Amino acid sequence: MTTISVANQKGGVGKTTTAIQLAYNINQKGNSVLLIDLDPQANASSVFLDASPNSLKTEETVYAILKDKEDPKRIIKKTKWENLYLIPSSLALSEVEPLLTGNVDGFFRLQDSLEDVRSEFDFIIIDNPPNLGMLTLNALLCSDFVVIPLQAAKFSLDGIRTILETIDTLNKKFRTKIKILGALMTMYDDRTTISKAMIEEMKKYLPVFDGYISRSVVVEESHLMKEPLSLYAPKSKVALQYQTITEIILNGIQKR
Ligand SMILES: Nc1ncnc2c1ncn2[C@@H]1O[C@H](COP(=O)(O)OP(=O)(O)O)[C@@H](O)[C@H]1O
Ligand SMILES: [Mg+2]
Repeated sequence: MTTISVANQKGGVGKTTTAIQLAYNINQKGNSVLLIDLDPQANASSVFLDASPNSLKTEETVYAILKDKEDPKRIIKKTKWENLYLIPSSLALSEVEPLLTGNVDGFFRLQDSLEDVRSEFDFIIIDNPPNLGMLTLNALLCSDFVVIPLQAAKFSLDGIRTILETIDTLNKKFRTKIKILGALMTMYDDRTTISKAMIEEMKKYLPVFDGYISRSVVVEESHLMKEPLSLYAPKSKVALQYQTITEIILNGIQKR
């Protein structure tokens, strides 16, 4: 069982899109996959659920796991796709952060709750909110690997340093072995070519995947249609790019 967090404290960099495609693509390769939505915006949940996530009761979402230590078996939902499961989020999740901060086990609520169900899945993919608060820290502490989507246009070295330092601090303080699998360049615009020099600069700080994700309207469309890209537009450039990145990630995990 392998857990991968998709994290970056910036919003709008492609975390949720990446988490959705990874969960689906890895599942399609014959793995049982659990996608955990830790973002109160619940965008990943809305793609995988028929109903709107905000119509769910808080007892049916990850809120209950984190706040009331609810058994995750009662929260995990089947999706339309066999062996692809979801722990949904909803807006109420934003209220959990202060409750976690005030508890001694606040960092470990997610890890503790997953203990009994982990072995049932080949992969757990976690979509994170756009900050490095208690929700993201909970996710990182139960992750083997982290994928960091970066949007070339919004790229900041300070931002990268902050997340790298956070992971480093967790590994030191809690003796975890969270590994950064790589940074994924998203919404790449071929016309405004971000320079090779910029990617080379990034590589000084963290591994950057060979291969990037282009900007394309099919991404937004596929979300509206509640379908992963490989289903909605299987021959599109971005769907193929996400297939390639999935391969790179799975190979990268095997080598570690
Ligand atoms: N490759 C892409 N091309 C075009 N739009 C994209 C792409 N990836 C994501 N988007 C859009 O950009 C917005 C932010 O993406 P999202 O994955 O939700 O980022 P985050 O989870 O980091 O906030 C969404 O509206 C999404 O549909
Ligand atoms: Mg998101």
